[in-house]
This record gives sequence, C-alpha cells and structure tokens, in this order.
Amino acid sequence: MVCLGNICRSPLAEGIMRQKVAAANLDWQIDSAGTGAWHVGELPDPRSIAIARKNGLDITYQRARKFQAKDLQAYDLILAMDTSNRSNILRLAKTEAERDKVRLMLSYSHPNEERSVPDPYWDDNGFEAVFEMLEEACEVILKESK
Ligand code: 4NP
Repeated sequence: MVCLGNICRSPLAEGIMRQKVAAANLDWQIDSAGTGAWHVGELPDPRSIAIARKNGLDITYQRARKFQAKDLQAYDLILAMDTSNRSNILRLAKTEAERDKVRLMLSYSHPNEERSVPDPYWDDNGFEAVFEMLEEACEVILKESK
C-alpha cells in the first residue's frame, strides 16, 4: 500500500487490509510505505488514526517509511493510491515483472478507470470518504483472490 507521505492514505489501507486478511484466515504479508521521505518514522496522521478508531481499527502501531526499490521484489502486489505515486514507483522498477506488480488501488473497485484516492492531507473532511473508498477496494481485492 503506497501513498506519498505514508501517514494518511496508505496506513489506512494497511490497517483495513490487515483486518480483512486476518478475518479470512489468510497468510498475507501487508505493509505500507510512502514515495516521499518527509514523515519517515512518524505515526499516522491523527485524522487517519481517528477515522480508523471510529471504524474499530487501531493503526497506531504503524510508523512511516519510504518505499524502496527492493519492495518491488519483496511483494507480489504494489498498490498505489494515486497516479503520481504509481509513476514514482514505476520509476524504480527494473523489470517488466516488477512493473506488472504495480496497480492503482481503486482499479479493483473501479476497473478501467484511472481513479486515484484523493490526498486528504489538506482536507480535514476528506478522511471519511477515503476510508470508504479503501474499504471498498480492499473488499474486492479479497474477493478476487478467492
Ligand atoms: P498521504 O498524505 O500521502 O496520504 O500520506 C500526505 C501526507 C503528507 C504530505 C502529503 C500527503 N505532505 O506533503 O507532507
């Protein structure tokens, strides 16, 4: 799960996906990262912590980290929150196989659209909608894996 700062969107995506995967008894390794390094080591944004908590999820164990080229080897699927994140990730890909792992998060819930999860950092009211979009996409990912 990859966004820009790894403090707003991708920590929520990680928390939501972890809960669904645990509930389905699946053994998936899930992590999140940001393409930017400004917030490395920080907790998720308080607004993400709050919306997660409201939905029964604790994401305060998470600390921001920067996405690295080796993540493209380590993971089967790299989910970018927006098209800018996707471009930055693809710039680090060294092979066609690595490029093929990179998808837009909302391509699951909205196939054939180039839909991005809007960056809620500058919009206090954006977090609720972001949570719902991520929840919907994670549900589809899980269903498609069965
Ligand atoms: P995120 O949101 O990519 O969803 O974690 C942002 C967090 C921080 C900044 C931008 C977006 N920032 O510019 O510091």
